[in-house]
Amino acid sequence: MGKRKHLTFGAMIHGVGYGWDDWRHPDAVTDAGVNFKFYKEQAHIAESGKFDFAFIADSVYITEKSTPHYLNRFEPFTILSALAAVTSHIGLVATVTVSYSEPFTLARQLASLDHVSGGRAGWNVVTTFLEGTAGNYSKQDHLAHDVRYRLADEFLDVTRGLWDSWEDDAFIRDKQSGVFFDPEKLHKLNHKGEFFSVKGPLNIARSKQGQPVIFQAGQSEDGRNFAAKHAEAIFAGHDNLEESKQYYRDVKRRAAGFGRSPESISILPGISPIIGLTEEEAERKYQEKVNLVSIENALTALGRPFNYFDFSKFPLDEPFPDLGELGSNAMQSGTERIKRLAKEENLTLRQVALRLATPRSIFVGTPEKIADTIQQWFEEEAADGFIISPGIPSTLKDFVELVVPILQERGLYRQDYEHDTLRGHLGLEVPVNRNRKEKAVL
Ligand SMILES: Cc1cc2nc3c(=O)[nH]c(=O)nc-3n(C[C@H](O)[C@H](O)[C@H](O)COP(=O)(O)O)c2cc1C
Repeated sequence: MGKRKHLTFGAMIHGVGYGWDDWRHPDAVTDAGVNFKFYKEQAHIAESGKFDFAFIADSVYITEKSTPHYLNRFEPFTILSALAAVTSHIGLVATVTVSYSEPFTLARQLASLDHVSGGRAGWNVVTTFLEGTAGNYSKQDHLAHDVRYRLADEFLDVTRGLWDSWEDDAFIRDKQSGVFFDPEKLHKLNHKGEFFSVKGPLNIARSKQGQPVIFQAGQSEDGRNFAAKHAEAIFAGHDNLEESKQYYRDVKRRAAGFGRSPESISILPGISPIIGLTEEEAERKYQEKVNLVSIENALTALGRPFNYFDFSKFPLDEPFPDLGELGSNAMQSGTERIKRLAKEENLTLRQVALRLATPRSIFVGTPEKIADTIQQWFEEEAADGFIISPGIPSTLKDFVELVVPILQERGLYRQDYEHDTLRGHLGLEVPVNRNRKEKAVL
């Protein structure tokens, strides 16, 4: 059902790492979050591995308990624009929240990145699960979960409408006649909706790929419907074959329900491979990471999806506390999964915290074993590809040098780029301008 011919890979470039203690790894670059040389090197490694895109996660609210990477880091458009100038093919995907942005400004920023990069921009649409963000944006309250997705739906419609302000042949630029553009091919949006009122037109034309590619990472009912309706690539959170298959089937089925072809969505679980030339070496690298984690930081990590809930007030070695509805307006599906895990396996608070802080992924092992698992997930329709997150500082380099050649050899992955736009890499067509019904050519 809706599987593509070859794998897709994205590289999550994530400064000092994902976890609270990753920066303490002997090979970690401790100022990576604001170190351009680091980002450039990572982007070059990913591009040498013919990756489809580099991905920047984001949030716009921190506390002293945030993970070290989030405390001190580049803003996504700024770093991706800089990376656009030093790369040539790799897609550049920015995470930006709809709950604290204006569609006109964001449409303009994304379109600019799309032009600067020659059609390589993508947007990971998030609704923001951290309530404290309201305090940074002159707002009293964080919107409720369902309202955030309603707003996201309208936001995306407005943004896409703005991107189509100019028809592709609108600019005549004839110095002789003095005609710069054809006013017939400039379209106002005149949008008035529940959340936004935007006249348009946008002051920038469509790019080589028409519009930036839409990514999404929601997991709840509302999140899945939003993804099925709008997303062209989905950053999924599962690390388990059966759950991933179910998720894959579910989202592709929902997409068909919205009249979309299942091939037009790539489902990309995020994985953090730890690779060793032997199983022993991989295990040693994994243990080295585990040994860095303190129980205090594991509790903080556990609290984040619950809106930085303070778990340290509960006894560590007693059954996981009953949290009632806590988390339902934060990272809804993630917090439900944690509660379910604790209940099903009858775990203590300490066990849950440590398990989540250093999950023993099935993507720890030799290059062959990791390639086998990737192949299995791809062939059994659990994934169209993967987003590679830094399990340890060498993850991306190890993956590109050791796993990619195996997948190329097996004919599962491209030997070289065949396109120079992100849509081209993902096999997506240039979207037809809503103001003009002829089909654009890639
Ligand atoms: C793999 C993955 C990566 C994510 N990256 C971000 C991110 O960079 N910024 C953000 O605000 N949320 C991020 N999220 C959170 C999602 O946007 C979403 O809030 C979460 O999956 C809960 O789903 P729901 O919104 O449908 O309840 C990510 C989620 C997943 C699964």
